[in-house]
Amino acid sequence: IHQKEYLLNGKLVPWAGAVNKIYSPVCIPGKNGLERKLVGSVPDTTPKEALEALDAAVNAYNNGLGEWPTMSVEGRIKCMQKFVYLMIQQRSIVIKLLMWEIGKTLPDATKEFDRTVDYINDTIDALKDLDRESSRFQQAEGTIAQIRRAPLGVVLSMGPFNYPLNEIFTTLIPALIMGNTILFKLPKHGVLAHYPLLEAFKEAFPPGTVNTLYGKGSEIIAPIMESGKVNVLAFIGSSKVANGLKKLHPKVNRLRAILSLDAKNAAIVTRHANIDVAVNECILGALSFNGQRCTALKLIFVQKEIADEFTKKLTAAVAALKPGLPWEKDVKITPLPEANKPAYLKDCIDDAIAKGAKVINENGGYTEASFVSPAVVYPVNDQMKLYHEEQFGPIVPVVPFESIEEPVNYQVNASHGMQVSIFSEDAEEVAHLIDSFVNLVSRVNINCQAQRGPDVFPFTGRKDSAEGTLSVFDALRSFSIRSLVAAKVTESNKT
Ligand code: G3H
Repeated sequence: IHQKEYLLNGKLVPWAGAVNKIYSPVCIPGKNGLERKLVGSVPDTTPKEALEALDAAVNAYNNGLGEWPTMSVEGRIKCMQKFVYLMIQQRSIVIKLLMWEIGKTLPDATKEFDRTVDYINDTIDALKDLDRESSRFQQAEGTIAQIRRAPLGVVLSMGPFNYPLNEIFTTLIPALIMGNTILFKLPKHGVLAHYPLLEAFKEAFPPGTVNTLYGKGSEIIAPIMESGKVNVLAFIGSSKVANGLKKLHPKVNRLRAILSLDAKNAAIVTRHANIDVAVNECILGALSFNGQRCTALKLIFVQKEIADEFTKKLTAAVAALKPGLPWEKDVKITPLPEANKPAYLKDCIDDAIAKGAKVINENGGYTEASFVSPAVVYPVNDQMKLYHEEQFGPIVPVVPFESIEEPVNYQVNASHGMQVSIFSEDAEEVAHLIDSFVNLVSRVNINCQAQRGPDVFPFTGRKDSAEGTLSVFDALRSFSIRSLVAAKVTESNKT
């Protein structure tokens, strides 16, 4: 798909300028051996178009007096229902693009699309509930008040390649339905998957309500933030980038940030674990979508007494994962979209080997073009990059431990705090571990992998992992303010 237009101020504006070429992780034979296949191009918009998009969003908001922020809740819900209806018409093409652009398997790409539709429908239902709550009057100390939910202004929404649709929409949709206007920066990989949906945005919402940004983030986002006109930064990615963006805003105290950032979630498999359950869940947690999830399990702590049995079963389970192309049946391991990732993963593995670890599964870490075979690395310790770096790829670092204090200390000293998974069948031990971790991370999973869903549950993190909370219910609150209409209780005000 060669995209020749972008969404600005309610129009699909033609683009004849420079383009960014989009390459698939799926490789084909080329002049230099296997090469990433060209699958399309998108406008390489410049700061000029980015600032036009910002103006469109600012004007549509119009200090809270625009058509969208003043529209009734029923009106906004109707627009969103129209959008979701039009979005569903594009289901098969979007799923196909997700497979080609980011290498997601057919079941995973399908799940991403369907889950996003569910998220929108659940958001609509949640807003109806919130609206019922907001319409009630409260009375205290001689004052009667209606507490409304009001929008915040212009929201800049940005997300990563691993869930190019779902993650952007989990900020964009609640922000939008609460009456804010939107600028959304498409991710580098997974950008074409949004193209079939632009028409739906154009048809469903008033002009200027939703505007797209392409081009290089490093060039176009700075002028937008420096303008001071963005009221909310909704960003899913690295905490380094998020902090850099926040600092660009001239009045950072006026900027609300809703962020989902760094993580390196640990699994703790104790000697009381059901090893088969732990292995299955650790494989899902560490290697679903090749480990490219912020909720992935990135360190597996295993108690020494069971380490041999656990690693033996783990390597056997990894060997059973079928590598292949995204659309092939039963495939679990697919090529990686980020061009520099295979070399980076090799560097992490080499570093661990140089410091005394081994790749313990056959063909682990084997690399060919964009494909990297999953590697189980053992024993990993705190001197290795694999212990500290999120690595976002198909490596499973296993850390043997003696005392339960060791994984607890890992989390105490970590700069992040998203999730842990505890594997133990001993109720007392589980209770102790819940107490140890519950104030260090934002979700403790018992005998199951780490994950974001169900999306109605809160999704947040501690330390550098998050700011604000995303979930169907929380996000509606995150993207709005409680605004009062209050009066003294008098006979006339009562009516
Ligand atoms: O990368 C972060 C995603 O939001 C994770 O979602 O746990 O459902 O894969 P997931």
